[in-house]
Amino acid sequence: MKSKTSRLDRFISQNSMFSLSDTRLLVAQKRIFLDGKVAYSTQQIVSEFTHVVLDGTCLKDNTPVYIMLNKPAGVVCATKDVKHTTVLDLIDHPQKSELHIVGRLDFNTTGLVLLTNDGAWSRKISLPETKLDKIYDVTLSKPLTNEYSEVFSRGIYFAYENITTQPARLEIVSEYKARLTLTEGKYHQVKRMFGFFQNEVLALHRISVGHITLDGLKAGHSRLLSIPEIRYEY
Ligand code: URA
Repeated sequence: MKSKTSRLDRFISQNSMFSLSDTRLLVAQKRIFLDGKVAYSTQQIVSEFTHVVLDGTCLKDNTPVYIMLNKPAGVVCATKDVKHTTVLDLIDHPQKSELHIVGRLDFNTTGLVLLTNDGAWSRKISLPETKLDKIYDVTLSKPLTNEYSEVFSRGIYFAYENITTQPARLEIVSEYKARLTLTEGKYHQVKRMFGFFQNEVLALHRISVGHITLDGLKAGHSRLLSIPEIRYEY
């Protein structure tokens, strides 16, 4: 997602009847307000979520939105799909058409999906360097052994991308169940990691991304993130 910023004079020329050069006069006459404060320069930056008012008329009022959803199985992580229910179909928010998905889950994977219209925030969360923990509960078709934890902590070579996965932590919960912590999100990563042992993943559920956890949110339900969840320093 590209960051949507522009200089004030350019923004005014693109969003009103005034030209780039008219903006100097508008600023001098204190006719423009940015986030409730009088604009003082034509060079001020108008960002994606700056509230811009000219002569009492709002030119831009784009509120950032951050939502978590507990995705049920059989729902597509896409904004549109002709055949299946999408994660957006499960969300009731007036700005839902602006939202994008931060880290997709497969069709039958359940659990935490984040959605936002804030490209800078989702970029930060998704950057490989941020190394945010993503925790999954996994149910396997064959019994687990301690060898899995050792191999996952060393990393597994993915020939298609020519990469070795980052060290991952596996806690074996029972014979067929484990909790896996990844710091990255390659395509079908969990299934491919267990595929190394020819062990099929029967159920996969994401419980958290960084410090954001589902924490009792029911399947198919969504809620707005709290300020501490959004503002956490990654
Ligand atoms: N890894 C997978 O294989 N599938 C997902 O949906 C998420 C991680």
